[in-house]
Amino acid sequence: MNDRFKVSIIGDGNVGSACAQRIVERDYADVVLLDIIEGLPQGKALDIQQSASVVGFNSRIIGTNDYEETAGSDVVVITSGSPRKPGMTRDDLLLTNMKIVSEVTSRVVAKSPDCVIIVATNPVDAMVQLARHVSQFPQKRVLGLSGVLDAARLSTFVAAESKMPVEYVDACVLGEHGKNMVVIPRLTKIQGRPITELLPAESISKLVERTIGGGAEIVGLLKTGSAFYAPSAAITQMVDAILLNKDMTLSCAMSLNGEYGLTDTVISVPVKLGQGGVEEVVELELTSEERQALANSAKAVQELIGVMKLD
Ligand code: 2OP
Repeated sequence: MNDRFKVSIIGDGNVGSACAQRIVERDYADVVLLDIIEGLPQGKALDIQQSASVVGFNSRIIGTNDYEETAGSDVVVITSGSPRKPGMTRDDLLLTNMKIVSEVTSRVVAKSPDCVIIVATNPVDAMVQLARHVSQFPQKRVLGLSGVLDAARLSTFVAAESKMPVEYVDACVLGEHGKNMVVIPRLTKIQGRPITELLPAESISKLVERTIGGGAEIVGLLKTGSAFYAPSAAITQMVDAILLNKDMTLSCAMSLNGEYGLTDTVISVPVKLGQGGVEEVVELELTSEERQALANSAKAVQELIGVMKLD
């Protein structure tokens, strides 16, 4: 049992519990699910644990209200905070979620000073900068869920439009997790061929727009919450890539220090992940138009970060 990794998930809302379930079912990590509500994470963890014989895993999951239980985690996923309601942008959540993420981060790092943090709380790009500021971790150990989720959405739409299996699609989405998202059709491929050669421009624009509004589309349908199945799947893919050293490149939010010519901001860029977090930032060759879109996206996040008055 002791040779398993340890993953803690903070916040037992829909994203947190879906993540806990997905990760423990992968059977390589014990999971700690933490929430401030007494009984909630304990009940969910017990329920998930009781599925072990049916699903077939031997990892352990516990629920707790005590950060002591998270000590020595390899990866900590922060999902705490309010989700979006219809009509709200992710940025509307900034000030509410800022306090929560700040406190959670300081409590997490006190117990797991060597962990990799994955932030899911929105507005995620700004929250990554906040978690980095509070933790004082190097940039490679504080990541945000966004590009992976946005690329997953685009892959789904491209597969449906082209009637090809989704595993043939390789989607490229960078930038902010919001309206300044940078979807790159030229680098989005079906079996290695750019979709710009395979689909009409008009269809591509619709897929791009739907990807940018992917989260809002689900908020609009659910009315009382936001997406969690695809977000938890995307987080699980990041955790896999980190802990299983899969030598995988995924688009993740991270704070930039000169990469892509950008500093003091956070956006999703392609990164190779491993046990220490980001092993390498992959610098794609972008056209000047794509580079400009990325710079605009980075600037929008920088302005949001400015509102938090960190320092
Ligand atoms: C989404 O895009 C919750 O930001 C998340 O669905």
